[in-house]
Amino acid sequence: MDSQAKVFVAGHNGLVGGAVVRALKQQGYSNLVVRSSRELDLRQQQAVEDFFATEKPAYVFLAAAKVGGIQANNVYRGEFLYDNLMIESNIIHSAYRHQVQKLLFLGSSCIYPKLCAQPMREDYLLTGALEPTNEPYAIAKIAGLKLCENYCRQYGVNFISAMPTNLYGVNDNFDLNNSHVLPALMRKFHEAKVNQANTVTVWGTGEPLREFLYVDDLADALIYLMKTYDDVDFVNVGTGQEISIKELALTIQAVVGFEGELVFDTSKPNGTPRKLLDVSRLNSLGWQAQTDLKTGIEKTYAWYLENVDTLRA
Ligand SMILES: NC(=O)c1ccc[n+]([C@@H]2O[C@H](COP(=O)([O-])OP(=O)(O)OC[C@H]3O[C@@H](n4cnc5c(N)ncnc54)[C@H](OP(=O)(O)O)[C@@H]3O)[C@@H](O)[C@H]2O)c1
Repeated sequence: MDSQAKVFVAGHNGLVGGAVVRALKQQGYSNLVVRSSRELDLRQQQAVEDFFATEKPAYVFLAAAKVGGIQANNVYRGEFLYDNLMIESNIIHSAYRHQVQKLLFLGSSCIYPKLCAQPMREDYLLTGALEPTNEPYAIAKIAGLKLCENYCRQYGVNFISAMPTNLYGVNDNFDLNNSHVLPALMRKFHEAKVNQANTVTVWGTGEPLREFLYVDDLADALIYLMKTYDDVDFVNVGTGQEISIKELALTIQAVVGFEGELVFDTSKPNGTPRKLLDVSRLNSLGWQAQTDLKTGIEKTYAWYLENVDTLRA
């Protein structure tokens, strides 16, 4: 990827897109094209087509998506399916029509079956029923990676896909109604500390096991794959290490410095019991995550404290 090449980062205001832009700039890429959803609604086919015809990017990181936690995925089911299908179909098809040299599509580890064998290898895709709470989102993401795979097979394009595990970091979504577990817990602990509350409630039993990747590590992996990986098979991106939600909560509690009690609300859904990616394909390509969970949480909380008045809703 030439440092002068024009690179379109779709979703640059988001957690992943923002980290990709930061990392590209750090690595000397200066010809970046970005659009907010207000400037370019990626669900609009003609608008996306016009954008590609005008800008003609050489590389595309497809990090725009409708994203949320269990609650949002479960409530806005139609939107999660429709928006994500439209965004990825429009971008992938226009990228093909306008001879984009390489595109990287971002999926998610929720594409794997609810009761998938662990750790989850890439070839376990479509071997069982999906987790019902995020089935629409997962179906859209599977469609996206299959679009890339089959555009490669039919048209000979170079469109690759990466499936990251749960992410966290700078510029995460801390909205309690619509966020993932790690930022939601960080905000709850912070507010409980500020308000001198006695307890913080954690959704579910605390027993599910999850894996978390610091988003700057993800951005590094994505650029690495963009530069080095040309296969139709998608690649898991994670740390290969797991932690229970209870242990995660205790780690965040310690970083934030909240001295009260944890309460587990078992009336709330747990989601998939265990979710760990097998990252041997990525590791064998020569990439490994660098940031340990505590360090990543400390960096994220430092950013949160600096930006607490301007967090996105
Ligand atoms: N967060 C995670 O834990 C996680 C884990 C695994 C995979 N991923 C994947 O990573 C990708 C990015 O996720 P993220 O966490 O960075 O999400 P995010 O922070 O919510 O950012 C998504 C971005 O997509 C843009 N977007 C949404 N709808 C759009 C539309 N109709 N038109 C144009 N832009 C639109 C938004 O742009 P505006 O801000 O301009 O509205 C937003 O900044 C997704 O594909 C997701 O599946 C995320």
